[in-house]
Amino acid sequence: MCGIVGYTGPRDCLPILIGGLERLEYRGYDSAGVAVVTGDSPDDYSLEIRKEEGKLQGLKDLVEAQPVSGTFGIAHTRWATHGAPNQINAHPHTDETDHIALVHNGIIENCDALREMLKTKGHTFHTETDTEVLCHLVGEYWDGSLEKAVAAALRIVEGAYGIAVISDLDPGKIVGARKGSPLVVGVGDGEYFVASDVAAILSHTNQVIYLADEEMVVVTRRGFRTQTLNEIPIAKDVEEITWELSQAEKGGYEHFMLKEIFEQPRCIQNAIRGRLEDDGWRAHIGGLNISDEELARVERVVFLACGTSWHAAMIGEYMIEEYCRLPVEVEYASEFRYRDPVIDGKTLVLVISQSGETADTLAAMREAQRRGAMALGICNVVGSTIAREADGGMYIHAGPEIGVASTKAFTSQVATLAVLTLHLARIHGLSDEPARSLIHGLRRIPDQMEAILADASHCRVVAEKYAHHANCLYLGRGYNFPVALEGALKLKEISYVHAEGYPAAEMKHGPIALIDENMPVVFICTKDRAYDKIKSNMAEVKARSGRIIAVATEGDTHVEGIADDVFYIPQTIDALVPLLSVLPLQLYSYYVAVLRGCNVDQPRNLAKSVTVE
Ligand code: AGP
Repeated sequence: MCGIVGYTGPRDCLPILIGGLERLEYRGYDSAGVAVVTGDSPDDYSLEIRKEEGKLQGLKDLVEAQPVSGTFGIAHTRWATHGAPNQINAHPHTDETDHIALVHNGIIENCDALREMLKTKGHTFHTETDTEVLCHLVGEYWDGSLEKAVAAALRIVEGAYGIAVISDLDPGKIVGARKGSPLVVGVGDGEYFVASDVAAILSHTNQVIYLADEEMVVVTRRGFRTQTLNEIPIAKDVEEITWELSQAEKGGYEHFMLKEIFEQPRCIQNAIRGRLEDDGWRAHIGGLNISDEELARVERVVFLACGTSWHAAMIGEYMIEEYCRLPVEVEYASEFRYRDPVIDGKTLVLVISQSGETADTLAAMREAQRRGAMALGICNVVGSTIAREADGGMYIHAGPEIGVASTKAFTSQVATLAVLTLHLARIHGLSDEPARSLIHGLRRIPDQMEAILADASHCRVVAEKYAHHANCLYLGRGYNFPVALEGALKLKEISYVHAEGYPAAEMKHGPIALIDENMPVVFICTKDRAYDKIKSNMAEVKARSGRIIAVATEGDTHVEGIADDVFYIPQTIDALVPLLSVLPLQLYSYYVAVLRGCNVDQPRNLAKSVTVE
């Protein structure tokens, strides 16, 4: 996802802009740039652009070779959508007169029609990007007021955007706006910021304003004001960010992903803290905003999510079916939003999203709400769009997840879903014993995770044996089937090894043809209700010279006679096994990626939050 940073105030803006982009590098990008207005008086104001393909160091080298200094500017890291990732397509883009500069996160869907319209008015374009069209449109509407020109342009634009705009004709001012892509305003002491993510500005202020869709902000050195696209003033609350910037640092680990893998015991403690009651074996959830009576009327549950969050949703499906005895469906958000789904007022929609900004998930939630469903957001980022637009919800309290490959957010989502399942189940008649067992099991998870993480070096040793393979199969049953999918996703997205997850029994219906000594097979074969069945699947692979890596329950010596390598995890109840069985797979994929020399925290082609369709 693209990153946006803007500053206006008394200080030199360049180091603030570059520093902000550094905080956003984790999101994935392929070029970067800044626009700064230099000069101290209207006669010598000049809009200067510096932009470069590739990583941020290229831009730093460029501004060192060609310095630029001023007290207001905007900056951008681009994740290419329209147009190749190169210097000419990098942001900022300028208008026909080169007096207006704009940075953009999102997609302008009617950019072709707008480009043709502007060409008839004499505009010429130098790039393939939709962003350049948007900037020329602002220039077309320029009539002395930057915010009026931006508002007029956005009123005829279709698509998604988070933007920041400056001009040397309107000094000191930054105009921001959003629709579908996040934009926050930082309120400093006599200085103001705009950014696509609070991480970019948290070192300067923890006082922020979150724009909602189709809202604009006009920021000057004297303050800010917020309005609609129709230029109607609106009041916005200043909110305080509660987490520290240090939480978004590596803390001595080689990669954010490894740090976040090791943070998981504490994250689970945070996810369940204050939410489990021994008195009555119930859950206590603040902010759900849906009453017990409304939940008692729920007859069906639908999950909406993408990627790793979709895997967490699958585990939630098994939990809710087992404990609440309600029918559950898990939908890819991107599919749900374009079907004609059957949704009504007795459907509870659970929307899972770490970032709370995933475009497909947000659109699917809005579609479900439009059809009358109650929607609960299960998010990590406080104040994110999904969290704010849902009818209620729960934060997973995992802290900022910087690594593109989701790890601590996944297990925090599963733990949070376990708490929500307990709450819903008790309303739907779950008895004391399974409720007590679920609470006790959850409470033991952090220590059990610590025990697994203490043996991380074994995962590295096993990774060294298999890192050269170009393919891998992950097989699991029951609660471990979504874990097989998640393990495969982890390996493919950070090491670029082709990996597939399958229900173990499905192997006979095709994938078994792939089995030979060159196809490592990861079996998640913990001691649960499907254990005996999965042992047969392992024997089928062994009989065909397949090499087996097993995730097994401590004390299961039988598995050592079949598997070439084993990761052991402690015993827990079936519903909580994913919280433990995923850990060796996270570590295994991490070490394979490191051994293969991959960029673990910023894998190629990937973004931390996909805010475009
Ligand atoms: C997971 O490792 C990936 N980064 C990706 O699949 C991610 O889970 C997906 O894009 C959904 O993101 P969200 O949870 O922020 O909505």
